[in-house]
Amino acid sequence: MHRSAIARTAAERPSSRSEVSSYDRVMKAVHWLTLLLVIGAFACIWAERQADTKNEAEIFIHVHQSLGFTILGLTIFRLYWRRRAEIPRLPVSLPVIQKLAARATEYLLYGLLSVQPVLGILYTNASRHLVNLYFLGDLPVVLGPDRMLAERLIALHDLVAVLLLIFIGLHAAAALFHHFVRRDDVLNAMLPRWLQRPR
Ligand code: HEM
Ligand code: HEM
Repeated sequence: MHRSAIARTAAERPSSRSEVSSYDRVMKAVHWLTLLLVIGAFACIWAERQADTKNEAEIFIHVHQSLGFTILGLTIFRLYWRRRAEIPRLPVSLPVIQKLAARATEYLLYGLLSVQPVLGILYTNASRHLVNLYFLGDLPVVLGPDRMLAERLIALHDLVAVLLLIFIGLHAAAALFHHFVRRDDVLNAMLPRWLQRPR
């Protein structure tokens, strides 16, 4: 196969060759729910830092851990669902390099969303704490206490949080560019039907 043809194929959706124009309901619901959970996880850290008492701060950390853990579960489910889902193609007129950039950003986001909760869980245990889920109970300990390792894990957790912010920002900016400047259907494909711009 010619090299540019290979690049073009790599930039296309790998899981499905169907010509659907929209993501399915599950992909859309999980996408926007993940956005809400990520906002919630960041908001908890912000709130923890404003908290007046240690008790109050702890509540925000527990909610942070619970939302983060839910993001992990949802991301695993999403990757599983995606293998079967019918995925719309990017516009044919989009340069191959932009298609590749879009796909690379999306895979990177999947990677960051999977790694970040694992770092959070490991850090919590390494710093002698238990991971609490929605005040219902604690997860089993997966790592013994280790102060040096805990310091490295929180530094990584912090770095991944910054990378998430950067790549979510680029990804969202690209989606808005498609919608309002190129005026194509890329964002429409991820929006619920009642929010889609008429084609
Ligand atoms: C995608 C999910 C997550 C995001 C975006 C996220 C983001 C963050 C951010 C931005 C911080 C502040 C880092 C700093 O500068 O100190 C933080 C701290 C922390 N995160 Fe996460 N996190 C996520 C998931 C988790 C999970 C699943 C857990 C544990 C189950 C967790 C546990 C913690 C803990 C214990 C801290 C330290 C809080 C403190 O003592 O101030 N995180 N997280
Ligand atoms: C937490 C924030 C976000 C994350 C982690 C995220 C992640 C992702 C991922 C991984 C995909 C690929 C879906 C697939 O498997 O095919 C995707 C698609 C998409 N996202 Fe997001 N997204 C976020 C926020 C946003 C926002 C704020 C917008 C709009 C302003 C947006 C618009 C889109 C669009 C239009 C697509 C479809 C693009 C395509 O067909 O390639 N996303 N998103």
